[in-house]
Amino acid sequence: MSTFPDVRLRRLRRTPSIRRLFDTPMPGPQKFIWPVFVVEGTNQRQAIESMPNQYRLSVDTLIAELKPVVESGIGGILIFGLVEDALKDESGSRAHDENGVVQNAVRAVRKAYPDLVIFTDVCLCAYTSHGHCGPLAAGGDVDNDAANDLLAKVAVSHAAAGADCVAPSAMMDGQVQAIRAALTAAGLDETLLMSYSTKFASAMYGPFREAEQSSPQSGDRCGYQASYADLRQALRESDMDEDEGADILMAKPSLFYLDVIASLRDGTDLPLAVYNVSGEYAMLIATAERGWGDLRGMVRESTMALVRAGTDLIISYWANQYDEFFGQSD
Ligand code: PBG
Ligand code: ZN
Repeated sequence: MSTFPDVRLRRLRRTPSIRRLFDTPMPGPQKFIWPVFVVEGTNQRQAIESMPNQYRLSVDTLIAELKPVVESGIGGILIFGLVEDALKDESGSRAHDENGVVQNAVRAVRKAYPDLVIFTDVCLCAYTSHGHCGPLAAGGDVDNDAANDLLAKVAVSHAAAGADCVAPSAMMDGQVQAIRAALTAAGLDETLLMSYSTKFASAMYGPFREAEQSSPQSGDRCGYQASYADLRQALRESDMDEDEGADILMAKPSLFYLDVIASLRDGTDLPLAVYNVSGEYAMLIATAERGWGDLRGMVRESTMALVRAGTDLIISYWANQYDEFFGQSD
């Protein structure tokens, strides 16, 4: 009785109402975190060409744009800041300015939406004149330990402004330990730390770097971001961040790394996030625009792949369009 013709799996998927008994539901809006790009000034809403439906917003515009997104029930936002070139320097000092764009945005969002969970990206590449994720040592490499001191200052300034969770993305050795120690020393022991723990040197960050104006002026990030061809080392990155005191781990990018997500899920009891990055977003939109695929179908199928791989949270540019892509049932 255990094989065809007695067993017919099609029985289990014969009608929509039978299928929905067994299908894993699409994650609710509370599982999504929307990355937002914040610029100085007022009344700014700059389109990002390679990321349709995403904008660089000034704080006032962000507050307005967030209203329907918050009402849709979204889990949180992840704030990125941009500064004009004139404010960039060798060490990215504007990143830890108490009145920097991220710090101001955190305070304003906290006031307007007291219950929204606020994550902040902690890095230096959008603030350094050379575009690397930390200051450069004499030989031209990023100075790891000097970067850690600066990243800790950035994280403390975000937490002091009211961020619920700081998210270091620079891929420096020891950055989680340095940030956790600095938060503790500042009495900010309630602040969550989500590490970009396994973050690959990826070709999928192009649209983001356009949005953030944060491309390295020379060289690349292969000396600090993980190699996609070395799986074991990539997994060790997350193991170490767990030991250093991260509350939440993350894999990034996401869709080309389902094996990594599944391995991380197996290897930890920490919550796991994935970052469905800019290039993954742009890729589906570009395909749909050429008439080569249905956007809603591709968005849902790719999102379910992340859920199947074992993620808890999804950082995604689809998040501000939740109702459109995930709202109604199939
Ligand atoms: C910078 C940072 C990057 C992203 C998030 N933080 C780009 C990079 O490392 O060059 C990429 C996000 C995306 O592509 O959506 N530390
Ligand atoms: Zn960076």
